[in-house]
Amino acid sequence: MAEVIIVPTSDEAGALVADEIVRLIAARPDAVLGLATGSTPLPVYQALRSRVGGVDVSRVRGFALDEYVGIDPAHPQSYRSVITREVVEPLGLDPALIRTPNGALETIEHAGDDYEHAIAAAGGVDLQILGIGTSGHIGFNEPGSSFASRTRVKTLIEQTRQDNARFFDSIDDVPLHCITQGLGTILDARHLFLLAFGENKAAAIAGAVEGPVTASLPGSAIQLHPHVTVVVDEAAASQLQHADYYRYVLAHKPAWQGL
Ligand code: F6R
Repeated sequence: MAEVIIVPTSDEAGALVADEIVRLIAARPDAVLGLATGSTPLPVYQALRSRVGGVDVSRVRGFALDEYVGIDPAHPQSYRSVITREVVEPLGLDPALIRTPNGALETIEHAGDDYEHAIAAAGGVDLQILGIGTSGHIGFNEPGSSFASRTRVKTLIEQTRQDNARFFDSIDDVPLHCITQGLGTILDARHLFLLAFGENKAAAIAGAVEGPVTASLPGSAIQLHPHVTVVVDEAAASQLQHADYYRYVLAHKPAWQGL
């Protein structure tokens, strides 16, 4: 079962995950981070800014979850730009060690395989940060995605395009296609952190953590993973049936047990 940690604010969630990332980098300076984009991971990246001073991050490697297909990498909302702006530059990471899937049309046919090879060559992802869409997607694995899927092109559902329209001038500017790590790729990471904040994520979180394991709610794939930490605020936890038990477990967590 995933460990579920309910925190009062997204800032506290960010601090908790950032502390774990710093511990990981201190123990393994060339750690491989799995980086999500969107608004959910921003408190983690923010909290990291004040914490990375104490560790050497020059060898940290990273793989983004996804990218829009056909978007100019220089577009401010390409995930390459977002990762550069929110993660690489403020944390002082080496940009050459931080990869995003290549959404260029010219090479899109083999971009998924290329990305899989790069992740494998890095030895896999140590710690994967995940958000969840209101559709229940993780990465951009929309409902119906295979649990065995690897990095590939997917078509975004209308709801996701509407959700992401806030980052663009209009919904018409939100690309139709993306290239995303598959559910199988995500499940290969050694430790998953799934974060969610706000009431509009409550149904997706309840489905992912407690619902049936089903391709109709891709986030439920986390139930197949042996090491998952779910960090949510009260609003995102509001539809969890066993929230009191998760609080009880946390309150009685043995001191020797890390995250
Ligand atoms: C982003 C990603 C998506 C988002 C999800 C939630 O790299 O893979 O799964 O995590 O769409 O988006 P936000 O955080 O903007 O609500």
